[in-house]
Amino acid sequence: MGGFFLKKMKNFKGRDIIDINDFSKEELLFILKTAKRFDPAFVKSDRSNYTIAQGKIAALLFFEPSTRTEQSFRSAAQKIGMGIIGFSDPEGTSIRKGETFSDTIRIMDSYADVLTIRHPEPLSAKKAAEVAQIPVINAGDGPNQHPTQTMLDLYTMMKEAGKLDGITVALMGDLRYGRTVHALSLALSHFKIKQIFISHPSLKMPDEFLKILESRGVEYAEFDHLPEDLEADFLYQTRVQKERFKDLEEYKKIKDKFILDASFKRYLDKGVKLMHPLPRVNEIDPVLDSHPNAIYFAQAKNGLYIREALLALILGRI
Ligand code: NCD
Repeated sequence: MGGFFLKKMKNFKGRDIIDINDFSKEELLFILKTAKRFDPAFVKSDRSNYTIAQGKIAALLFFEPSTRTEQSFRSAAQKIGMGIIGFSDPEGTSIRKGETFSDTIRIMDSYADVLTIRHPEPLSAKKAAEVAQIPVINAGDGPNQHPTQTMLDLYTMMKEAGKLDGITVALMGDLRYGRTVHALSLALSHFKIKQIFISHPSLKMPDEFLKILESRGVEYAEFDHLPEDLEADFLYQTRVQKERFKDLEEYKKIKDKFILDASFKRYLDKGVKLMHPLPRVNEIDPVLDSHPNAIYFAQAKNGLYIREALLALILGRI
């Protein structure tokens, strides 16, 4: 990830984080470098970080459940001195009385300095950004994207492999509805990275994303099973997104097709590092957790450093 000397990029202050496509390769690398400043793996705890964004308020609007994304944003904001407002269950707000989405956004906009939103509708974060004056961060818009998850995934790969160019990444599970794999695949396409997609045929990576990869000349392969001889630096496993299925019978039929059980240890021993955005249901057997190449908990922890960096950058405080 190079040294600590960050040539200041001027174009982050006030910026929305809605779509991973809005970020160039250079900008993504800059964000990863900035996150190192908050990561105890690279720097001893730096007290000056505690007051970076003092006096600023983060509004966290979670219209859909979350553990990691919401709590890591809460923690990141407080670690750099911010206050927090918002909700994790819209049932407790005036939305229950029939208030519109844009009115809710407009009100929160006037109480905060940055707005983080998770919502079941695709493009909801974009809609919020059209109404809000303050920067908006997309913390997941339905099956569409989850750009800050992607940034922490890239950070994890960079930290583990020491590079991004030249690696191979396999994405597995629900490639159809999984917003994390959509945004991640697009971001990986900026680098010389071979992508391998492994899923049930009905959950394959949507054509709209494959077309973008093709237009960018990305080398990719698709499988309907986990190849015996998988050659990959990372396998990114995902949960089948039950909440996105219109037909629950369909979900039940395919939900258990791509489970990694104890026999996956063979791949871990060979050096494949196993990632997962979490939460998992049953798609990774906990017996694998203690293997040094099962890195999903370390991955979740990295989310804190990326989110501290992003908040500080878009507030123009670093
Ligand atoms: C993911 C999400 O919400 O998209 N979780 C996360 O943010 N870490 C993945 C999932 O819910 O399966």
